[in-house]
Amino acid sequence: MKVLTSNLLRNLVLCLPVFATCLPIAAVAEEDDRPVIVVPRGGGKETFTRFCTTCHMPDGRGGQNEGGYGADLRVTKLTAEEVVGVVTNGRQSKGMPSFKGIIDDEKIGLVAAYVKTVIKLKE
Ligand code: HEC
Repeated sequence: MKVLTSNLLRNLVLCLPVFATCLPIAAVAEEDDRPVIVVPRGGGKETFTRFCTTCHMPDGRGGQNEGGYGADLRVTKLTAEEVVGVVTNGRQSKGMPSFKGIIDDEKIGLVAAYVKTVIKLKE
């Protein structure tokens, strides 16, 4: 944080006199300072499309399928953590498969987040 502030100050000092020519310097300095952020790409949607839509439909509404009656995920009352639990362990007797060992933990987390944000009906 201290480093960041001092760099910001330095950039400011450098930039004030000749604003236009300094912009590239500021850009370079900031790039070095920034922490590396890894953005997960497509994890939740990709996993949902691949593993869930057969029974839950692309919009999550669910319905009758060979295994049972797929829950309507748009209105699930489960929290993201509980969704992780259901996806991991399944509800075998009701036709919801267990994805343990099929989808890795990180992707199960992403798919649960996808269910709770994109699939969830907006109030
Ligand atoms: C073979 C069909 C099938 C597939 C594939 C499937 N599900 Fe299900 N799922 C079901 C059925 C059937 C239920 C309803 C179980 C019940 O009645 O309790 C269910 C229930 C659920 C529930 C519980 C909802 C609630 O409110 O109780 C969640 C969450 C869920 N599924 C998420 C997923 C996700 C995420 C995937 C993909 C990784 C997935 N399911 C893939 C059939 C499936």
